[in-house]
Amino acid sequence: MRIVMIGPPGAGKGTHAKIISKQFSAAHIATGDLLRIKVQDGSEIGKRAKAVMDKGELVPDTMVIEMIKERFHESDAQKGFVLDGFPRTVEQAEALDALLKSLRLKLDGVINMTVSEAVVIRRLSGRRVCLKCGASYHIKNIPSKREGICDACGSELIQRKDDTPETILERMRVYESRTRPLIDYYTKTGLLQTVDGDLEVEPLQKVLQKLYEKLGWLKVSASSK
Ligand code: AP5
Repeated sequence: MRIVMIGPPGAGKGTHAKIISKQFSAAHIATGDLLRIKVQDGSEIGKRAKAVMDKGELVPDTMVIEMIKERFHESDAQKGFVLDGFPRTVEQAEALDALLKSLRLKLDGVINMTVSEAVVIRRLSGRRVCLKCGASYHIKNIPSKREGICDACGSELIQRKDDTPETILERMRVYESRTRPLIDYYTKTGLLQTVDGDLEVEPLQKVLQKLYEKLGWLKVSASSK
């Protein structure tokens, strides 16, 4: 399966993309995670990206498009992928279309997660992440077993620099101006499926399972195994 997930910051793209990619044996490709790896590496690209990300702005389209091209060549992406946080601008969506065309591939669908502002703020201000393995928690909704320690790898959990109140508001503003236009873009292609990201994780997973049944995705995934 080849799926794109779009939605405002904190909609739950990462949380659900991880579950969906396991279910469909597809690669989970999150441009935010790829950029944070570059920041940790301390590379020149990472340094430039960090300054932009800390402010809640978008890094240049060319940088993320190049990262996606490279990532598509890795072996796990050959079986399919769930794109989380890419595309984020119309220019990125056009570049993705061109890339898929050159590879003779097509998207199966685009999951658009809506979410209310109050929920975004509550979720992101309570989020804690593991820089080592990428696991994500929420101090109230999805707590780690031991406070401040990752269940998966035992490393320390931190609060992302862009999860401060002012930067969250800036990210939402950037979503409205740069990413929301993708809803129209993908509505025109007939690929867009909108779900209520305000729902808790389990109820939303149930909604998604019904959606896959309706779209015939479960049959496609079973026959490709
Ligand atoms: P990125 O890391 O992609 O951040 P984002 O899009 O703002 O998304 P988030 O990770 O904040 O939210 P999410 O929707 O994944 O929610 P999550 O599941 O984590 O990007 C960071 C930065 O990198 C950008 O600002 C930009 O600078 C740059 N960048 C990345 N991609 C780019 C691109 N394509 N072009 C240019 N620049 C790019 O959930 C959030 C919290 O809520 C967690 O604590 C989770 O546990 C909890 N939670 C999730 N779902 C639920 C639920 N249903 N119920 C209860 N709690 C929930």
